[in-house]
Amino acid sequence: MDPMTLPYIRILVGTMTGTAQLVAQELELSWDDGETRVETLLMDRLDSSVFRAGGVFLICTSTYGQGDVPDNAKALFEDLKAKRPDLRGVRYGVFGLGDRTYAQTFNFGGKLFDDLLTELGASRVGERVQHDASSGTLPEEVAAEWGAGWLEQLRAAVVV
Ligand SMILES: Cc1cc2nc3c(=O)[nH]c(=O)nc-3n(C[C@H](O)[C@H](O)[C@H](O)COP(=O)(O)O)c2cc1C
Repeated sequence: MDPMTLPYIRILVGTMTGTAQLVAQELELSWDDGETRVETLLMDRLDSSVFRAGGVFLICTSTYGQGDVPDNAKALFEDLKAKRPDLRGVRYGVFGLGDRTYAQTFNFGGKLFDDLLTELGASRVGERVQHDASSGTLPEEVAAEWGAGWLEQLRAAVVV
């Protein structure tokens, strides 16, 4: 089946200590209902070819270092920057995790992916989420609430 014509979502997880993975698991549970199919992939061994066939992606990533993507996301990010594939067939959302304590680089991991994917021709669906670890909310709970609305926006954007 053409991945653009049905809600088939690949969640790509960039994480250092597993929080973003919890978010992905929660989203997979709430989205994968038989009509919508979801595949969650840790970014660890991915390169830019994961986007080759186009389709729908959710980038679910935290931020580390001086506003960098987490270590397990670096190879994918660098490969995209080096190869610069044409991503016009890609729709994506971003669920970013960060901490406002890092005021200068808050949620830069998600932002870096967002900017690069847009630059390469992909289209974002919905606003980029910026979860704040200092907010007292649990990212997986925020994600579950946000996820239903994002699916609606996705269906409106993808189904013609
Ligand atoms: C050493 C370290 C550096 C971090 N740097 C940033 C940062 O620059 N910007 C930001 O928004 N959050 C930063 N964070 C916060 C993490 O992104 C946040 O806690 C996130 O929820 C962790 O998710 P993960 O477990 O999936 O990696 C940092 C956390 C640590 C421990």
